[in-house]
Amino acid sequence: MQKREAKHILDKLWQRGKDFLGVENAILGGAMTWVSEPQLVAAISNAGGFGIIASGSMSASILLKVIDETKEKTSKPFGVNLITLHPDIEALVDVCCEKKMQHVFLAGGLPPAWAIKKLKEAGSKVICFAPALVLAKKFHRQGVDALILEGMEAGGHIGPVSVNVLAQEILPEMAKKLPIFIAGGIGRGEVIVNFLKMGAAGCQLGTRFVCSTECTAHENFKKAFIRGNSRDAVPSVQLDARFPVIPVRALKNKASDEFMKQQYEAIKKVESGALELKEAQMIIEHFWGGALRKAVVDGDIENGSIMAGQSVGLVKKIQPVQEIIDELLDQAICYIEKEIA
Ligand SMILES: Cc1cc2nc3c(=O)[nH]c(=O)nc-3n(C[C@H](O)[C@H](O)[C@H](O)COP(=O)(O)O)c2cc1C
Repeated sequence: MQKREAKHILDKLWQRGKDFLGVENAILGGAMTWVSEPQLVAAISNAGGFGIIASGSMSASILLKVIDETKEKTSKPFGVNLITLHPDIEALVDVCCEKKMQHVFLAGGLPPAWAIKKLKEAGSKVICFAPALVLAKKFHRQGVDALILEGMEAGGHIGPVSVNVLAQEILPEMAKKLPIFIAGGIGRGEVIVNFLKMGAAGCQLGTRFVCSTECTAHENFKKAFIRGNSRDAVPSVQLDARFPVIPVRALKNKASDEFMKQQYEAIKKVESGALELKEAQMIIEHFWGGALRKAVVDGDIENGSIMAGQSVGLVKKIQPVQEIIDELLDQAICYIEKEIA
């Protein structure tokens, strides 16, 4: 009886997120480049969550095919994540419009106004990542339909602020205005309930879904996640202001050590006059090129980039997506049950 009541409370807490996404559970499978392909995306949607295709590594023609393939695997809603710095962003936006995608997520830098306008005119709901309150307000004014607050605990490219602080900064002021989803460092159902109680509409998880049966990432990549502790998932470090480094959270490995050495050597060479500053900057900038593919697709976890969030410490085994979502739901419901007991 109490379980039913707790489930009812949970449903009410994330009703807005469920309605916005058109799903049973407002749990999004965050887009992960090379990882979020049709099989995983469809599995998340079929399990009552919301899968998102990662188009970061795709051309427009591949995205078109991937959307069709995903539709063959699920009749449930799913979304597309676009990286706004992608060289073919215009063509990718066109694909989303042509395919009448209901939910399009704009990531990686400030979302361009033309993209928001075009997608909205085509009938899509546009979701953007808000790394600060001022930007959350700006996106709301621009007509963005929902926000994601992604903390620096997350895997992949990260901002500087923790999810805990972002939630406190943005939810109280913005949650009534538009649905807000929380991402970064989420591995259990209890924490989802806490964010919902603060006004969030749902949560997005990436790291937790990598070790699913349906995820096509290389076995070595998944094994690294199972072995990894939270403290091993660290941001890339910048050694010198002259050599900008985009912060990416990944598991420490040979490549991350090598990256530090390369930066150190580049600094020394520039200082001794052996290298021009521009040349050295290019070496640093190109170091990680193709590195995620190397780890996810080829399984080279020494020389590739094992992007993972701090919640990697909560990943213990490979499980079907349905089991992962059921586990999150169970934890959420038991947590509410204890409160109403
Ligand atoms: C391997 C990997 C690749 C990712 N690629 C993308 C991406 O292409 N676009 C994006 O918006 N976020 C990307 N992310 C972030 C996820 O979508 C998600 O927001 C994040 O993983 C949530 O934090 P968590 O890892 O702590 O669950 C990536 C994360 C990982 C671990």
